[in-house]
Amino acid sequence: MKMLLLFSLLLFSSQLSSSKATLTDYIIDVHPPMSVKLTNQKDIQAYYYSFLPKIVAHTGETRMIHTYFHAMSGFAARLTENEVNEMAKKKGFLRARPSRVFNLLTTHTPDFLGLQTGFGLWKSSEMGTIIGKSEPLTVAAFSSRGPNSLHPGILKPDILGPGVNILSAWLGLDGSPSDVPTNEGFNIMSGTSMSTPHLIGIAALVKQIHPDWTPAAIKSAIMTTSMAEDHDGKPIKNEQLHPADFFVMGVGHVNPSKVVDPGLVFDIDKKDYIGFLYSLDYTDEQVYIITGDNVQCSKIHNISQSELNCPAIVFSRKQCVTVNRTVTNVGEAMSTYKVEIDMPDEAMVKVVPTVLEFNKLNEKKSYMVSIVKSNDVSKKHVHGNLRWVSHKYIVRTPIVIVDHY
Ligand SMILES: *[C@@H]1O[C@H](CO)[C@@H](O)[C@H](O)[C@H]1NC(C)=O
Ligand SMILES: *[C@@H]1O[C@H](CO)[C@@H](O)[C@H](O)[C@H]1NC(C)=O
Repeated sequence: MKMLLLFSLLLFSSQLSSSKATLTDYIIDVHPPMSVKLTNQKDIQAYYYSFLPKIVAHTGETRMIHTYFHAMSGFAARLTENEVNEMAKKKGFLRARPSRVFNLLTTHTPDFLGLQTGFGLWKSSEMGTIIGKSEPLTVAAFSSRGPNSLHPGILKPDILGPGVNILSAWLGLDGSPSDVPTNEGFNIMSGTSMSTPHLIGIAALVKQIHPDWTPAAIKSAIMTTSMAEDHDGKPIKNEQLHPADFFVMGVGHVNPSKVVDPGLVFDIDKKDYIGFLYSLDYTDEQVYIITGDNVQCSKIHNISQSELNCPAIVFSRKQCVTVNRTVTNVGEAMSTYKVEIDMPDEAMVKVVPTVLEFNKLNEKKSYMVSIVKSNDVSKKHVHGNLRWVSHKYIVRTPIVIVDHY
């Protein structure tokens, strides 16, 4: 009797696992139809459903898991491999990816960044990033260096984040082998590249406080509030312990306690990015794959690399001696900012106007920056800063002059 029961249980569970093996959750990207302009969510949903196989009515199964309207054009559905292959033949299908589960693999970064007391306290916390008191803040030798090889008119790198000798641990012994032998059922490595995860975490926290900010505004807030010096006021160093320039450290080291309240931001909307892509000679189809927008090159104003509204300026002494920037007021409604420029002796730049007056939040003001004097810089880049200073805020953007690009 016992044997029989066990047998039937086995049978049952093997049936379960075989049906699991055939149905998988997929995320499917589709192209919105070029000809029909779908306006309401119901129409779009019906269009997505048209990709599904004829649903097996007798099982009453619903295959659609989720339909996307904002992040992408497509849906998530439970499908067999054969069904995906059938779907791939339909017009408008772009790709299908099996869904994957990502687990949080860290617990201590928030402490490190002074975020352990929860979101509300973070703002008033004075801790920020802890960057050693005794050692000068030094950029690792292996950290990527500028200038930007593809678009030299856009400063790269952007920003420094903590990232050296950070321990990273995960459960289980899979993945690459431990640096440290362990029999504890977890894996550990040091020297993992953690700068990007730190910056992304900070960006996510800014987004939580300012849900309406664009990625460009968040990046701007992170960059303009950063520190070019360490906590003791000493310049950040390169690996040879000489002061680091912007091609080594980006604008400086992230300062998490300041990023939520930057005063002004350099915003870039989707239209600007599309204009930038067109200036690089992308086709309509390529722009669609990147942006999800059906746009036409002929209707978009090209935006060159130096015109893209980034919180940094890279001049080319030969090709680009004037650039415009636009700032958006996200600080105090009524506020006045005065410009402060600090450039080395071999160069001089002029800013017009020199004062920006704001009367309300989200008001935008533009200014023009031009090189007035630049001695031959072919052997050396010139690095300086432009600061918009109000009684409460300092909005710092780097200026770099290179010979040409
Ligand atoms: C934009 O730039 C691309 C690439 O340089 C060029 O082919 C295109 O004609 C430009 N479009 C306009 C409207 O100037
Ligand atoms: C910058 O702004 C000035 C004044 O509004 C304008 O005349 C000029 O064409 C702009 N330059 C660029 C590159 O957009």
